[in-house]
Order: sequence, then structure tokens, then C-alpha cells
Amino acid sequence: MKLDQLFSINGKTAVVTGGSRGIGEMITAGFLANGVKVYITARKAGPLIDKAKELSDQYGQECIAIPSDLSSHGGIVDFADELKTRESSVDFLINNAGAAWAEPLDTFSEEGWDRVMDLNVKSVFFVTQQLLPLLRVNADNDDPSRIINVGSIDGINTPVFETYPYGPSKAAVHHLTRVLSAKLVKEDIIVNAIAPGPFPSNMLGPAVGHDYSGIAKANPRSRVGTPEDIAGLTIFLCSRAGAFTVGETITCDGGLVARSGHDLSGG
Ligand SMILES: NC(=O)c1ccc[n+]([C@@H]2O[C@H](COP(=O)([O-])OP(=O)(O)OC[C@H]3O[C@@H](n4cnc5c(N)ncnc54)[C@H](OP(=O)(O)O)[C@@H]3O)[C@@H](O)[C@H]2O)c1
Repeated sequence: MKLDQLFSINGKTAVVTGGSRGIGEMITAGFLANGVKVYITARKAGPLIDKAKELSDQYGQECIAIPSDLSSHGGIVDFADELKTRESSVDFLINNAGAAWAEPLDTFSEEGWDRVMDLNVKSVFFVTQQLLPLLRVNADNDDPSRIINVGSIDGINTPVFETYPYGPSKAAVHHLTRVLSAKLVKEDIIVNAIAPGPFPSNMLGPAVGHDYSGIAKANPRSRVGTPEDIAGLTIFLCSRAGAFTVGETITCDGGLVARSGHDLSGG
């Protein structure tokens, strides 16, 4: 019952997709700071390799970059093959890489629709499929392997911006989480999703002119999310403490989703 046993993730190996910046970097930092070896992947090799080195130096823990494009099946297979040459097992998979695309409704492009759906939904399924052999190796009833899919509160609430496929893609992530959890719990692999609210990142920044003060003020917690918020929840889900929480989508949003219900009731 001691904290260092309940919440320990020390000595594990993790994969964080989209780990070069934003929420993926925050989760990676939380893992590294607590003794986890982390593989990060993203398309832009230079920034990814630089980030892996920066985080390794900062936390004194191994962070390894494997550049890849997860939006295509071939890119996913190449990534999994490369990972398999380096590791015989993985304990945690964080399916975080995602994209948004905004266009007016009347001219919204097929390209934008496909980009969002391919990366946000299809790649979550196929990255999981390709990494299952590694996730199965250490999975047992006392210490299950973990998969965390990063969804969004836009998959629960109606999004503010004209990002038409984004909300549906994240709702699909939440449901895929439940579907996969029901199947994989029998193999001692636990699947959950986190639905973040606003976190400073390349995805959100341009939409608010890189000024987060307005959305911070509008948030019930009067701020945006921090690395501690997202890393803390991820560590809980990957630790002994999270080992009976299965198939859930847990918001990490300062109370935005809870407040929308309150608003609907007219209160
Ligand atoms: N920030 C928020 O407020 C917020 C809120 C709710 C949910 N989310 C979700 O959180 C996740 C992370 O978003 P973020 O805000 O941190 O975005 P971000 O700053 O844009 O980071 C996205 C990451 O994914 C990588 N990536 C993008 N396309 C890729 C591809 N085809 N293959 C491999 N990697 C790819 C990016 O690197 P490259 O560009 O080099 O590939 C980067 O590392 C996403 O799933 C997003 O939907 C974010």
C-alpha cells in the first residue's frame, strides 16, 4: 500500500507515439523521470532525435528515437520491425500521435478527412496490432501490460473549431479503446483512454494565436493542462494502482466536460 509500490513504473519499457513534442513529450518526461526506458516516434527525424537526446540528458534515463510515419500501414510495419530489432518486449504503449484539420464545412476536403481518420483512428488500431507480440511477452495477471490511447474531450463534447472529422475520430478512439480492452484483458493487457482538454502544443497553439490566456480563463480550473496533469494520470494507469481500471476513457480537462453537463441543465 506504500506509494512507491502502488505507483511504481520503474524498470519498464514504453513506446510513446508522437513523443517529440506536446502531450507525447509530457508523458515521455513523466516516464523517464520515474525509471522507464522510452522509445519515441514522429515523422521529423531531426527534432525527434534532438528531443530524445535532450530528455535523456535531462532525466538520466534512456530515451530512444525511431523516426516513422504512422499514417500509413507500411510506416507502421516499418516502425514495429525496427522496434523489434531493439527490444524483445514492451510494457506500455501510448498511442498519442494525432492530427487535426480545420476547413469550412462547405469546402472541407477529402484529404483533410482522410489525414485525420488515418492517423487518429486507423493507426491506433494497427500500431496496437503490430506491437501486440511485444506487449504479450511480460503481460501477466499480477502485472499486466498497458495500452493508453490519447483521445480528446472533442470526442465527447461538440468541438469549438471547424475540425469536422476530429471529434468523430476521437469518439472512435474512445470506443476502440473499449472494444480492444474487452478482447485484450483476457491476455492481461489493459487498454484505457485519456481524453485531454486544452494543453499547450503545436496542435492547439495556432488555433489560439499561441495565447492560452483566453482558454485558461474559460476553464473551470482557470488554467490549461500541465505536464504533471497528463503524466500523473498516465503513470496511475500504468502502475499497480491502475491495474483494475479497464476500458475507461478518463478526462484530463480541468472540468470542461463536467461543466458542459451543468450548462445543459440550465444551472
Ligand atoms: N493539445 C491539446 O490540447 C489536445 C487536446 C486533446 C487531445 N489532444 C491529443 O493529444 C495528442 C497529441 O497532440 P498534441 O497536442 O501534443 O499535438 P502536437 O504538438 O502536434 O504533437 C503531435 C505529435 O505527433 C507526431 N505526429 C504527427 N503526425 C504523425 C505521423 N503521421 N506519424 C508519426 N507521428 C506523427 C508529431 O511529430 P511530427 O510532426 O514530427 O510527425 C508530434 O510528435 C493527439 O492525439 C491530440 O489529438 C491534444
